[in-house]
Amino acid sequence: MQIIRTIKDMQVLSRKLRAGHKTIGIVPTMGAFHEGHLSLIRSSKNENDITVVTIFVNPIQFGPSEDFSKYPRDIEGDLSKLSSLGPDIVFLPDDKEMYPNGFAAAVNIGSIGGILCGAARPGHFNGVATVVVKLFNIVMPDNGYFGQKDFQQTVILKKIVTDLDYNVNIIVCPTVREHDGLAMSSRNTYLDHEERKAAPILYKALKLGEEFILSNSEVDASYIKEQIKKYIISEPLANIDYIEIVSVTHLDKVVKIDFPVAICIAVKIGKTRLIDNIIVDRK
Ligand code: PAF
Repeated sequence: MQIIRTIKDMQVLSRKLRAGHKTIGIVPTMGAFHEGHLSLIRSSKNENDITVVTIFVNPIQFGPSEDFSKYPRDIEGDLSKLSSLGPDIVFLPDDKEMYPNGFAAAVNIGSIGGILCGAARPGHFNGVATVVVKLFNIVMPDNGYFGQKDFQQTVILKKIVTDLDYNVNIIVCPTVREHDGLAMSSRNTYLDHEERKAAPILYKALKLGEEFILSNSEVDASYIKEQIKKYIISEPLANIDYIEIVSVTHLDKVVKIDFPVAICIAVKIGKTRLIDNIIVDRK
């Protein structure tokens, strides 16, 4: 496993690999690995000659009052997890390497970045888009691996590669969950004991919504959202940010269920904002 810290070294190596007709899979991450990250790396290893894992806590995707400075960082732990998994390359740039003095460009992904999570996190998805585009230009991958937990992010990244003609396939891998259904996330480490006990309410609420759609054949999206809301507010530690039912391709709000749909939710448990989603398709 080779560790590369500069953009130039990474580009030189990627050019060489591509000239040798090697396929490259990229797994962009912000570190603090859990099983969700490791499953993305395994998928990339299975499907590509070379796997590049990138670790970079991207400052421009955090708002001024968000958790950039306290976002979990554990490079030593991450590298030791990686050494047993064996990706070929770890790209580990620092802030100055990615955003040198005078850096000013940005990818603007338009209105899709202002809905769902983007409504509470203005600029977040432009920050994600900018760093992912930079990583694609640095690593020159054939395939990029992202988790379904960040569903809006995956839809936006698919749109970027289409709009900007990147030859990268966006591969969306299933959400990895704890035994009680809680979607794995680096931010779960913020939860205290009581909050951790409450947090599976997100997945239970999504399953309830799915059941309404599939078993009760309910088609009215606002009725289903209302049932999900009632269920979540029964948990005193939960504070709903949004509950939406959207199309899986463009994230358009759905009025009557038209398969497949994604139920997407963001809920604060104590001070920690958690997101989750489920895609519901015809049985
Ligand atoms: O999903 C994440 O961890 C980040 O948004 C990503 C894609 C690595 C960009 O910083």
